[in-house]
Amino acid sequence: MMVEAADFFDMLIKLPQKVTLSINGKGFDAELGETILSVLIREGHQKIRLSHKARKWRGFYCGMGVCFECLVEVDGIPNVRACITPISAGMKVILHD
Ligand code: FES
Repeated sequence: MMVEAADFFDMLIKLPQKVTLSINGKGFDAELGETILSVLIREGHQKIRLSHKARKWRGFYCGMGVCFECLVEVDGIPNVRACITPISAGMKVILHD
């Protein structure tokens, strides 16, 4: 069976692209297209940040960029919403405490 060139390139595009990012200094494998939050959930991080006022751990809530409960630091930039931020290779994520 002959594979057309356009079909071949479509298959290549659809292959998952594995990248590595770090969360609190620990390396994790992920696929491009995932959000930071999806990686956090998969790796068992339910406590994402510590509330400064109540001193209680907070987790994600809406998962769509509205509630701001999933704030993390990404490559030195604070208060990034994990649920709407796609991962990239070498990204460094720090969970707030
Ligand atoms: S979980 Fe609500 S903004 Fe991210």
